[in-house]
Amino acid sequence: MPFWAPDIGIDLGTETTSLYVRGRGIVISEPTLVVLDRENSRSVQAVGDEARFLLGRSPDRLVAVSPLKNGQVSDFDMTELMLRYFIRKAVGVSYLSRPRIIVSVPCGLDDVNRKALTEAVRLAGAKHVFLIEKPFASAIGSGLPVYDPVGNLVVDIGAGTTDVSVISLGGLVVSQSIPIGGNKLDEALIEYLRRESNILIGKQTAESIKKDLATALPLEESRTILVRGVNQLNTSAGTIRFSSSQAYDAIKNPCTAIIKAIRWVLERTPPELSADIMRGGIHLTGDGSRLFALDRYISENLGIPVLLAKDPGDCCILGIGYLTENIQLISPQNSRHTPKPAF
Ligand SMILES: Nc1ncnc2c1ncn2[C@@H]1O[C@H](COP(=O)(O)OP(=O)(O)OP(=O)(O)O)[C@@H](O)[C@H]1O
Ligand SMILES: [Mg+2]
Repeated sequence: MPFWAPDIGIDLGTETTSLYVRGRGIVISEPTLVVLDRENSRSVQAVGDEARFLLGRSPDRLVAVSPLKNGQVSDFDMTELMLRYFIRKAVGVSYLSRPRIIVSVPCGLDDVNRKALTEAVRLAGAKHVFLIEKPFASAIGSGLPVYDPVGNLVVDIGAGTTDVSVISLGGLVVSQSIPIGGNKLDEALIEYLRRESNILIGKQTAESIKKDLATALPLEESRTILVRGVNQLNTSAGTIRFSSSQAYDAIKNPCTAIIKAIRWVLERTPPELSADIMRGGIHLTGDGSRLFALDRYISENLGIPVLLAKDPGDCCILGIGYLTENIQLISPQNSRHTPKPAF
């Protein structure tokens, strides 16, 4: 029986949870989802991919629970159950010693939530738990020199939160987390279609409209698609033509909120670091930043170059993976400030 369980990194996302195992790489990337028995909420029926598969195919007796809401854990018991399942799937149980685990958190998470999450991860099987802010991990994952004395501005747009942070010398200098991400764009599209066209659509339809049609800047030539939903006036099936300019209108507010959050951080950034950011640009990570023309929209509003990471959705887990391979970079009690290693 091997003695030491390998260290594990977890990107605990509102939509997707990924696990990185030291020496092996990313081994799990599955929906942050648990399916339970409605009558016995401790009876877990499926987790992750299996839970997504069951969704919609399940009898009424089963209910799907997402343990995270807007980037924060909303159900610690479910988070513990889900993580225990993922950890076992990733490394098995045949070790005498439990693994050290690094977990991503939104920036500005309060101490009560930090403590509760740490406890949940410990109960799920960790020996030691380290919490790392998402934009810090994403900055490492997109190859930024986070330990150098230069300002790096990272905007991580996920499903539940947008985390904006200026990073220098291995720590967060100024940061802001807002509960706005891809989910809020989906909700804005659902609300717009209900209000303007009396059509009710589900979350999955809204998400595909967002990916296929929505844009953060108006297009020169508007595109249209057919959207199928339920007419709320007579509850019959209804189909309407929906244009990219309508989709642009629908998601304007959440896009403006992202600009406001970046501006808030820039206004509080020390001038020397601002100069670095003007030169180096704003780095977009998280799959929510794939929204069409979002990079141009931010750049035009703030007058700063914007760079979209190559695989934006993987930046956070790749950064956590780097820290998992180099766990000496993390201070023992805290990850809010990550000191430069003593080489
Ligand atoms: N091409 C695309 N255009 C717009 N949005 C997209 C695109 N591809 C994925 N998304 C959105 O990205 C979001 C998921 O991003 P990501 O996987 O980074 O979130 P997460 O890490 O689970 O959440 P968080 O970090 O907020 O807790 C979803 O809302 C999804 O709809
Ligand atoms: Mg994320």
